[in-house]
Amino acid sequence: RFRSEGGPVVRVELPGQVPVWAVVAYESVDEVLSNDGILFSKNPRNYTALNDGTIPADWPLRQVVDGDHLLTKDGADHRRLRGLVNRAFTPARVQALAPRIQEMTDELLDRMAEQGDRVDLVRLFSEPLPVAVICELFGIPHDERKQIRDWSLILLSHETTPDEAVKTGGDLLAYLAAFIERKRGAPGDDLTTALIRAQEDDGDSLSDSEMVGILWLVLIAGHETTVHLIANAVVALCSDPAQLAMARAENAWDRAVEETLRGRNSVINVMFRYPMREVRVSGVTIKEGEPIMVGISAAGTDPARFGEHAERFDLSRDQEPHLGFGRGPHFCLGAPLARLEARIALSSLFSRFPDLRLDVGADDIAYVSSIITEGPVSLPVLL
Ligand code: HEM
Repeated sequence: RFRSEGGPVVRVELPGQVPVWAVVAYESVDEVLSNDGILFSKNPRNYTALNDGTIPADWPLRQVVDGDHLLTKDGADHRRLRGLVNRAFTPARVQALAPRIQEMTDELLDRMAEQGDRVDLVRLFSEPLPVAVICELFGIPHDERKQIRDWSLILLSHETTPDEAVKTGGDLLAYLAAFIERKRGAPGDDLTTALIRAQEDDGDSLSDSEMVGILWLVLIAGHETTVHLIANAVVALCSDPAQLAMARAENAWDRAVEETLRGRNSVINVMFRYPMREVRVSGVTIKEGEPIMVGISAAGTDPARFGEHAERFDLSRDQEPHLGFGRGPHFCLGAPLARLEARIALSSLFSRFPDLRLDVGADDIAYVSSIITEGPVSLPVLL
């Protein structure tokens, strides 16, 4: 809507909110992300309204934009931290998780089958799987996983009050700090141990609080995004029997994942960039320090890039590169894991339940309302 009514770059002024710029055309989104750390900063130090008192201290999004982690660092600071994380979070580590992801997927599908013919796919499948995978990745003991899941559900729920979020966030951070200490004494074949080794190899330049920040960010960034990606793909496939038939016949689950990331993404906007000086984006002038929200899913459905039927979920379209995992220095750290997990989830779900269908009209599905993510609150299906 912004794109057709306002152009590629729109000023959004909602009552009671600080105005933001929304960048909503593929070319403009690409232009902004490609200049991360050059023209645009992600460091809240460069956000005028956060520093001059315009935004109150209890602003709910403050926790997201004001934390000390990969997503709030630029340039050399970001490269240093990302380089250390990349050494631990390797493609080989992700690939090695595949058999466990398959097992956990099958266990959830078994349990779902025991619940009768009509189930909520979000509650029983797309929501528990990603947090189980992340716990496995971190090496969190089985009897502590329920606690992690409960905390992340509170943090992700849109009914959580700012006070509850602060309390739960504090509990989770304290748990992660203690967990890292325990791992030092009892290393394993997991991401936490690999991070500890990267820290030691690097002469301890990776501080303990940065380590906690990395685990915290991976848990938060890797959970809800994947929950919604799986559910959005199921909705898209079940709403169009021809597409589902094609996915089955051609074993095109990878393509289904990419098409979801392009046109039905779980991440609709990525959070703010702050111009480091006055800039022009697609001809629009934005002043230094004014927040820019980057419309990832608007870019994915831009007809100028993806053609007249850009809104259509179509597995036969030419797979042009999309921006669903971002671009540039902040490109999603977890993309290989998300792709692997979503492919296993979709192929296993549809082969286990060949007659699976939605038990709700596509237009009647209630969606999580957030400016960052989008996906069904619940998804009644008939197995
Ligand atoms: C960054 C999307 C899953 C960890 C990002 C960004 C996007 C994104 C668009 C860029 C943010 C920006 O530029 O401001 C997604 C989507 C997922 C997904 C659509 C769908 C399933 C995951 C998973 C993990 C993860 C599974 C971890 C296991 C991260 C981290 C960053 C990030 C740590 C920050 C990278 C940095 O700043 O260097 N993600 N993500 N994401 N993602 Fe993902």
